Amino acid sequence: MSKSMIYSKKGAFLIENVPVKKLADEYGTPAYVYSKKIIEDTFINFKKSFIKLNPLVCFAVKANSNIAILNLLAKQGAGFDIVSGGELKRVIAAKGDPKKLVFSGIGKSIEEIGLAISHDILAFNVESEGELYRIQSIAKSLNKKAAISIRVNPNVDAKTHPYISTGLKDNKFGVDEKKSIELYLLAKNLDSIVIKGIDCHIGSQITEINPFIDSAKKLVALIDHLKTLDINIEHFDIGGGLGINYKDELPPSFSDYADAINQVIGNRKLKIIVEPGRSLIAKAGVLLTSIEYIKEGNSKNFAIVDAAMNDLMRPSLYDAYHEIINIISHNLDKKEYDIVGPVCETGDFFGKNRLLSIKNKDLLAILDTGAYGMSMSSNYNTRPRSVEILVDNEKSHIIRERETFEHLISGESILP
Ligand code: LLP
Repeated sequence: MSKSMIYSKKGAFLIENVPVKKLADEYGTPAYVYSKKIIEDTFINFKKSFIKLNPLVCFAVKANSNIAILNLLAKQGAGFDIVSGGELKRVIAAKGDPKKLVFSGIGKSIEEIGLAISHDILAFNVESEGELYRIQSIAKSLNKKAAISIRVNPNVDAKTHPYISTGLKDNKFGVDEKKSIELYLLAKNLDSIVIKGIDCHIGSQITEINPFIDSAKKLVALIDHLKTLDINIEHFDIGGGLGINYKDELPPSFSDYADAINQVIGNRKLKIIVEPGRSLIAKAGVLLTSIEYIKEGNSKNFAIVDAAMNDLMRPSLYDAYHEIINIISHNLDKKEYDIVGPVCETGDFFGKNRLLSIKNKDLLAILDTGAYGMSMSSNYNTRPRSVEILVDNEKSHIIRERETFEHLISGESILP
């Protein structure tokens, strides 16, 4: 079972020093709830584990883009990995430092590139030749220089869900090693481009150390080779991807991961950038949801809850496992239930055949949903997005209001 940010004390479940039941009573459900202390402690632990390499930790904004959370991380010294102009604007709204931004993604638009150049970001992680030329031409027109890394696709199997594996030669990301050398040689002669680094990111929810080692080895070999071509790489962006324990996975610890990378780097003088998302934030968030109906049948029992796949897509999309616990204790016999949402799709479920002691109106917590939970939510079935709450010791704060119907249709209109 995964270790949770919710703990029980004298028969009540707490997040930091606030009873979970009280949060649900105050803010309603569904509700995403985060712990400030866990966010900060996790970031500090990550930094500590990496003390020898002293990297710039660029939190992957896509994992959780609430500006209150980005602000907490920025205050701890985090930089950010962004993949859109929208994420760039979020970082700025969160008082993050644009000079600590790396910009990844294969489809950067003209506007996004212009915006990033005008904010003097740390580096573009360039994913194609076309993008390199586009950055050169926009930088030139703005009379600026743009700093770049080439994203190398090392053809390493991250051994994760195929939808979130990004470092195989048939994936759409980055360029292969040979092409990267061509692009560096090209970039060297582009007058508005400054070569800063090299980058890779092989996938997400990676639970073995070897894919990280294999790809880092390939990249340092490339860095050494580029040196012989008079191309000097200042920073090595190792990407993100470190997995967490949702059920029974045993991912490398922060220290295992840091030590492995440190060994590959050896005594090379390289500034390290790392882009963790999930491993920093997944365990700092839960989704609270109330049971609307219990529906017992001959072959299946269902607990129908007030959250749905629009609030948390991971089970529907990847068949992902999230631990589900009942916050209300009683002595009913445990039975197997499928925990499902109200959306009109069979794929709208949070857990299958879960052994639980539950009854109508109980309050459930879906654990480890701080990463890729709210950030992937939608309004499917015209369902307003959930409220987001940040707990700080014995206080709680709304960091995003629950959407209303008016939010949902604002911007829509009927023909005159
Ligand atoms: N850097 C780049 C370029 C990325 O594309 C990603 C994630 C990260 C860093 C952060 O990876 P992390 O440390 O969080 O694994 N929606 C999926 C995960 C998609 C990950 C996409 N890229 C999920 O819910 O499992």
